[in-house]
Amino acid sequence: MNFEEELREKVGGIEKLLRSYLPEEKGCQKTIFEAMNYSVLAGGKRLRPLLMQECCHLFGREGREIGPFMAAIEMIHSSSLVHDDLPAMDADEYRRGRKTTWVVYGEDMAILAGDALMIYAFETAAKAFQKTDRPDLVGECIGILARKTGVYGMIGGQTVDVELTGKPVSEEELDFIYRLKTGALLEASMMIGAVLGGADREQTALVERVASDVGLAFQIQDDILDVTSTREALGKPVGSDEKNEKKTYVTLRGLEAARKQVEDYSKRAEAALGSLPVRNEFLNRLILTLITREK
Ligand code: IPE
Ligand code: IPE
Ligand code: MG
Ligand code: MG
Ligand code: MG
Repeated sequence: MNFEEELREKVGGIEKLLRSYLPEEKGCQKTIFEAMNYSVLAGGKRLRPLLMQECCHLFGREGREIGPFMAAIEMIHSSSLVHDDLPAMDADEYRRGRKTTWVVYGEDMAILAGDALMIYAFETAAKAFQKTDRPDLVGECIGILARKTGVYGMIGGQTVDVELTGKPVSEEELDFIYRLKTGALLEASMMIGAVLGGADREQTALVERVASDVGLAFQIQDDILDVTSTREALGKPVGSDEKNEKKTYVTLRGLEAARKQVEDYSKRAEAALGSLPVRNEFLNRLILTLITREK
């Protein structure tokens, strides 16, 4: 199997896994289930669960608790997108090739669906306790998931992103925003994979650094695509950053420098993985494809 085929097969597996953990659309509160499922099942690259799975494979331990965590991280990521698109935030009307959750279900339901997905993610992750003989590792991973989602992670980053909208931003501030709003969930993904895969403290710390570089590269490429791509290719609007007066690496440093940064961070991340005892060729390839990704 070549890389693209392997990728397609793995993403297919993640789709199935997600469906198995999402709620059934029944009961008096049916609307919230529909809105949650609408957002998560719209597609998406499924990069975070993929990275989690591949990091787990690096380290020998079977990691049979990983399924609930893979579903949980994608739920949290989707919840961040539902809220990010709200009129009070980026006010965007397309996501993953369809109308955003707030456009279809209303702002009130989109706020609730975002909240619901975020907390359902933890309900889901807690199911890993039923699959494990190492509740200590599961507990540690739930802690990582919470920390990287919350005020020291994604939500902290979104806070500064929102506050500095329309204002001058230094490179240090931009770096802070990217490491948190985007990097933190990638760090959680790869660290949880590593911990469940049996990594020791030092190895988990290395994986965290790698993920942080992947996060920076990923967000800078997102900024580039917001300028250079099309809505059809991305499945979300282009020009969103300009519309919202967001300062990005592209506005700060220009397209060429931004492209160079993506390449540098991705290559540094890939190279750092080389110091681990085992190689995962697929993971290395996956990280390098992020340099040239077009969606
Ligand atoms: C979009 O993430 C939000 C960012 C952090 C840049 P993705 O580009 O991974 O979105 P999906 O999951 O593929 O839709
Ligand atoms: C959002 O960054 C990162 C999140 C935590 C959702 P963006 O606002 O640039 O993400 P897109 O471009 O809307 O996907
Ligand atoms: Mg945003
Ligand atoms: Mg946005
Ligand atoms: Mg963007």
